[in-house]
Amino acid sequence: MTEDILSSFRKRFNYTGLILAGPYSKELKHNLSQAIVHLEALERIGSPIIPYIAAWRPDDEHIWYEYTGLRLHSLLGLKTTDLAEAFRANIITRCLYRNQKNPPAIDKIIRNRSQIDSMRNSMRRVAERSGAVEAVYKIEANNGPVWLKDLARIEIHNRDGVVLSYGSLIDVTKEMLLEEKLIEVQSELSFHKENLEFIVIERTKELRKAQLDVVSRLAHAAAYRDGETGAHIKRLSQYCGILGRSFGLSKKANWALFHAVPMHDVGKLGIDDSILRKPGPLSSNEFEIIKTHCQVGADLLGGSDSFLLTVAKTIALSHHERWDGSGYPQGLTEWQIPLASRITSICDVFDALTSKRPYKKAWDFEDAVSEVTRLRSIYFDPKLVDLFMENLPKIKKIFQTNTA
Ligand SMILES: [Fe+2]
Ligand SMILES: [Fe+2]
Repeated sequence: MTEDILSSFRKRFNYTGLILAGPYSKELKHNLSQAIVHLEALERIGSPIIPYIAAWRPDDEHIWYEYTGLRLHSLLGLKTTDLAEAFRANIITRCLYRNQKNPPAIDKIIRNRSQIDSMRNSMRRVAERSGAVEAVYKIEANNGPVWLKDLARIEIHNRDGVVLSYGSLIDVTKEMLLEEKLIEVQSELSFHKENLEFIVIERTKELRKAQLDVVSRLAHAAAYRDGETGAHIKRLSQYCGILGRSFGLSKKANWALFHAVPMHDVGKLGIDDSILRKPGPLSSNEFEIIKTHCQVGADLLGGSDSFLLTVAKTIALSHHERWDGSGYPQGLTEWQIPLASRITSICDVFDALTSKRPYKKAWDFEDAVSEVTRLRSIYFDPKLVDLFMENLPKIKKIFQTNTA
């Protein structure tokens, strides 16, 4: 029987049949012949599975095919004798699939050719150990790429010093081409998505920058009118930033506090020059008018969806409130006063004390600090005064750096 198979095999494929004609045991040759008969029968009934039997010696790199289904030859346009070399030379990509138990998800690893070359031997060892191979190969055939899914069972014949791989190939070219197309479309889509996200981020940055620019100009306009300097605004933001951070404000809240606080006196834009710039002491009537800058500022900054302007409005309205309720415009006490305004109040008074004005000299740093502590629980939130004292070295550094 072995001889019959060998001669028909040779006739059909011009193939030598290395095992059937070689120095191997009768038992091996018999089993192999039986297998070939079965595989040929399988092909004759029109199974979509393309069977093959490959062989190698464990200590040798060389693989050869003892049997290959006829459809494989027409699919690749190759003879059996050329198959091993064609597989070796023309595999573009090899995808390893491992079927997992439940659910039967597919774990796919795509290797490039150089990776495959370097792992060819170890893959074969794994196949010998596990007794099975599962893989998908992309082969550059004469008529274009062909994808083959391979499921093989490995048999080691120690006595004959040979390993046999009984495999079934399925042509999965259509599916894999579709998958490649899908990957291509997905990568194109993700590129567009990334591009859009980048544009949105850039626009948001631009808008935020424009918003901060306008806000800063508004704050400077108010300060300029009041005879304040840009340095006051800058120090105030930095002092408030230190207290806010130390209090544990979120990054976003502290960012808003830092940029909103320069607008605390924006309402002074609505106060008449004759009162605002009056060199002498103010009458009680004039002082009442000055007090309106809080509400005017809140009206100017209110009505916006912007978080920054909402914080700015709050500060403008209540930065003259005092812990003991003696402030204005609402006479709020303690925690009724919004946190941002309580922080602003300490820093604004401290900076006013250490600044030179037409009607007064600048106080020494230490004297102004003593005044802040004296006003603890009178004007100012005691906890915030404590934080102010804890951060005195940082406050002093800002004072020294930004005071001409
Ligand atoms: Fe004010
Ligand atoms: Fe101020």
